[in-house]
Amino acid sequence: MLTVSGIETFYGASQALFGLSLEVGAREVVTLMGRNGMGKTTTVHSITGITPVGGGEIRFEGRQIHRLPSFRIGQAGIALVPEGRQVFPNLTVRENLIATAANRARRSEPWTVDRILVMFPALEARFGVMANLLSGGEQQMLAIGRALMTNPRLLILDEATEGLAPLVRRDIWACLENLKRDGQAILVIDKNVNDLARVADRHYVVEKGRNVWSGTSAEIHENPGLLHEKLKL
Ligand SMILES: Nc1ncnc2c1ncn2[C@@H]1O[C@H](COP(=O)(O)OP(=O)(O)OP(=O)(O)O)[C@@H](O)[C@H]1O
Ligand SMILES: [Mg+2]
Repeated sequence: MLTVSGIETFYGASQALFGLSLEVGAREVVTLMGRNGMGKTTTVHSITGITPVGGGEIRFEGRQIHRLPSFRIGQAGIALVPEGRQVFPNLTVRENLIATAANRARRSEPWTVDRILVMFPALEARFGVMANLLSGGEQQMLAIGRALMTNPRLLILDEATEGLAPLVRRDIWACLENLKRDGQAILVIDKNVNDLARVADRHYVVEKGRNVWSGTSAEIHENPGLLHEKLKL
């Protein structure tokens, strides 16, 4: 579905990605792991066209996307839940959900506002409230709901549980497990490596903008010290 091949990304003269590669298959949940500042956000910004790619290639469902503007990549069916959430602060919950709604994956049963409220019941009581008045956890649920309302073929989450209370985190992981069960392809970045190893199929570890390891959750379960060694935690 998504193939990132040897991308190089720069911020001015400073290079952040050095030939980074990864793949996400249909119905797969794949993680991108790495310590702070290793290039995870830069990778998803390169995929979603927020940061231009200086070298290498990105293909999505067979089509080159790395020179397309961000909105075209969204239309192709990639939705990003960005680091720091970034919901529309002065729109209500309802308005946030419908603002960018579309049926990108042409699903026979597309996401609706009602289905989002079933997934995140906490949003129901906040339906008419401006997003900037929501708690961090509610904003995160809204950010995920808003991304789902575009019916993406690939959902990307950058640190979706960052700074949230344990109970809210648990709800977000439960949501991702439900999405996986429904066959949603997901690329996820998170600091909670144990949750990632439980939910995801495959993993990539990046260090200073380069791939240093990739493998399956089965490999991690067989060798519990593996991730700590590869991440140098
Ligand atoms: N807008 C920017 N301008 C210049 N350098 C940047 C910019 N954004 C990121 N960088 C640099 O690129 C490198 C990779 O940063 P990136 O944000 O991709 O890391 P990350 O793995 O997402 O880290 P974190 O876990 O802290 O979110 C870092 O060295 C960072 O300082
Ligand atoms: Mg980041």
